[in-house]
Amino acid sequence: MEIFHLSAECYPVAKVGGLADVVGALPKYLNQAGHKAKVVVPAYNNKFVQENEYETVHQGQLRLGRFVFSYSIAKEATGKLGFELYQIAIPELFDRPNVYSYEDDTERFLSFQIAFLNWLIETRQRPDILHCHDHHTALIPFMVQHCLNYEVLRLTPTILTIHNGQYQGWFGYDKLHYLPQFDLSKIGYLEWNGTINPLASGIKCAWKVTTVSPSYLDEISNRANGLENLLRWERPKSLGILNGIDTEVWNTKTDSLVVKNYSLKDFKKGKTANKAYLCEQFHLNPDLPLFTFIGRLVGEKGADLLPQICSVALHQNQGKINILILGSGDTGVELELSSLQNFYAGNYSAYIGYNEKLAHIIYAGADFLLMPSRIEPCGLNQMYALRYGTIPIVRRTGGLRDTVLDIGDGGFGICHNETSVSDVIHSISRAIQLFDQPKTFDAIRKYIQQIDHSWDKVATEYIDVYESLK
Ligand code: GLC
Repeated sequence: MEIFHLSAECYPVAKVGGLADVVGALPKYLNQAGHKAKVVVPAYNNKFVQENEYETVHQGQLRLGRFVFSYSIAKEATGKLGFELYQIAIPELFDRPNVYSYEDDTERFLSFQIAFLNWLIETRQRPDILHCHDHHTALIPFMVQHCLNYEVLRLTPTILTIHNGQYQGWFGYDKLHYLPQFDLSKIGYLEWNGTINPLASGIKCAWKVTTVSPSYLDEISNRANGLENLLRWERPKSLGILNGIDTEVWNTKTDSLVVKNYSLKDFKKGKTANKAYLCEQFHLNPDLPLFTFIGRLVGEKGADLLPQICSVALHQNQGKINILILGSGDTGVELELSSLQNFYAGNYSAYIGYNEKLAHIIYAGADFLLMPSRIEPCGLNQMYALRYGTIPIVRRTGGLRDTVLDIGDGGFGICHNETSVSDVIHSISRAIQLFDQPKTFDAIRKYIQQIDHSWDKVATEYIDVYESLK
């Protein structure tokens, strides 16, 4: 089958969060299973685009209301990613360094979707499946079904995967005329709660809706930023598929970003070496348990509570634990986390920013990973941690619920019910107890590295969905 993945992000081309990791991996594994999966993302003005070779495969124009934009489609020349990568350049809208957060994001992602469909039409491509990810590409199911220009694609099956239902891409009726011409009686497919809602439209129009974990699908029927009733209604065509992780990238034996590679046999040595490096870099004590948080510093991840969690934990366990934070996001939280360094130097450090290499070393060198998320559609970090022998401490929600079982229930992680300072502090105390029982601690660290979250397994679940639509 020929499958197009449409997304705003794709690792290593452009990454803001976990969406990129999924779009950069799933297609590779679909190809390995004998399919032809291709990825289409916008051409941002970033390092990957500047440093890689492309060949232009198509040029055209698109209309957005009274504006006309030229676009071109370039294919990555080497095929080194394990799938064909196409990037759509619309210079006025995408020749910028960042993926999101511009005032004209509506115009940007609408143009991207229109350019993609125009390209299919103009080059007479008829793929078997269009797989859209999140709201940035969620108008495609509506457009192929109801826009006159794309009539020949009407019977092309579309899938929408929800990686994050909080963001929906809302825009007002004043921009409705940006959409290519459609029968106005179909406007109901675009609306939700009095505005145009791309995510809602995708949920209504896609042939299948998937979420990135089964528990998240259950949860969003009750809590989905206004889309609860719609999701309940569309439940019969919805399915939760737990994400995988790219075990070629996340492999302790071959990972070129870590300080020392390791296998199951010598993992203690390997983890100790990585921890020693971190402790030296961040002036921490390598004999103490090392807790970490890696990720976006936003409310969804519970990051607003981190400053308080850290200060209470460090105060209560004076000189008995280390905490190392890596992340960026909310500036208030960034500031608070940075300033904590003045109070707990020697046991606490924060790196504010995005640093893929450091993240790998931390997964390899830390003892415990904190994920107090309020919302976690899947979460990949806990799976990276497991694979690298770092014990996750998670709030029971979404994909965290589906991947981490508490040691008290015969499992291998530490779980709590609420995103609250007291729940996390309690979990940290349990972690310290575990760290103080080296035999059990090591047995768990060894066990978790063997849990299989590889994409090979997950890709077959997607293939089953694709086949069911043919
Ligand atoms: C989003 C979600 C995260 C998920 C990722 C990949 O970033 O917040 O939970 O793991 O998408 O699907």
